[in-house]
Amino acid sequence: MKTLDRLRQGLLRNRAWDLTRPDLSLELNTSHGTLLYLEDISVSFDGFRAIDGLNLYIDAGELRCIIGPNGAGKTTMMDIITGKTRPDTGTAWFGQTIDLLRLSEPEIASVGIGRKFQKPSVFEPLTVFENLELAMAADKRVWPTLRARITPEQRTRIEEVLETIGLQEHRTRRAGALSHGQKQWLEIGMLLMQAPHLLLVDEPVAGMTHQEMDRTAELLTSLAGKHSVVVVEHDMDFVRSIANKVTVLHQGRVLAEGTMDEVQNDPRVIEVYLGGEDVHGPMA
Ligand SMILES: Nc1ncnc2c1ncn2[C@@H]1O[C@H](COP(=O)(O)OP(=O)(O)OP(=O)(O)O)[C@@H](O)[C@H]1O
Ligand SMILES: [Mg+2]
Repeated sequence: MKTLDRLRQGLLRNRAWDLTRPDLSLELNTSHGTLLYLEDISVSFDGFRAIDGLNLYIDAGELRCIIGPNGAGKTTMMDIITGKTRPDTGTAWFGQTIDLLRLSEPEIASVGIGRKFQKPSVFEPLTVFENLELAMAADKRVWPTLRARITPEQRTRIEEVLETIGLQEHRTRRAGALSHGQKQWLEIGMLLMQAPHLLLVDEPVAGMTHQEMDRTAELLTSLAGKHSVVVVEHDMDFVRSIANKVTVLHQGRVLAEGTMDEVQNDPRVIEVYLGGEDVHGPMA
């Protein structure tokens, strides 16, 4: 049972950091209703302040849209939450007890923060079902030998996710044969297999057809409640179709926050969108 040993070792290795840093809390506590606290975060790149005193709070189960002109710091903000970029100052807490700035990127993923990049990274030669199976595997290197051991519970979980992402009929298709939109949904499904508390989605509808955009809106709104979802998007029609609360970022800080109507009618927001050089043009 060489493979099982390797898997066991892998799991132990993953837990080692937990044991060597006993003061580190990994128990999520959202009893105050807030899942993510970013406070006074700043980061500079070669003297340029990409994030400048950012404060952002995301409630458990909420769907938040983040908009803002090119270069506002939206992607950098996601990089900070996921540990890809370390801020120069500020604090980032996941619930009341987990200090994200003390965790590595894989540790942040393992406490329940999933991120979807713009370019889908599904495994094209594998089927839709196999992609979801793979996303569930603790150690991807031993995946082929684990396949036979999928439990009834795991199968049920895959079926649930297939239904959520609307790809039940496509389960045996190769991921490489899916449309652009379907690949994006599959990738969201792969994140869901890890049951994340927070999903970060950067520009999900770029390159999608209108029909695919509508389906994506349904999918993202259906995830709220069970997960918190933070969506960065430039397409204002899409944002309007899903938005509850919208945060406008500008020059690395929050410019305005509120309903879509509130922020669209905010003179500061209009100024930024009309006065700037944003390639996406003024707010529709
Ligand atoms: N690793 C980096 N090194 C240097 N500069 C960076 C780095 N990452 C981001 N920046 C700069 O920080 C600023 C914010 O970039 P960011 O990608 O976060 O903006 P954004 O709001 O996501 O923009 P867009 O809407 O175009 O995706 C930009 O001026 C960008 O050039
Ligand atoms: Mg970006």
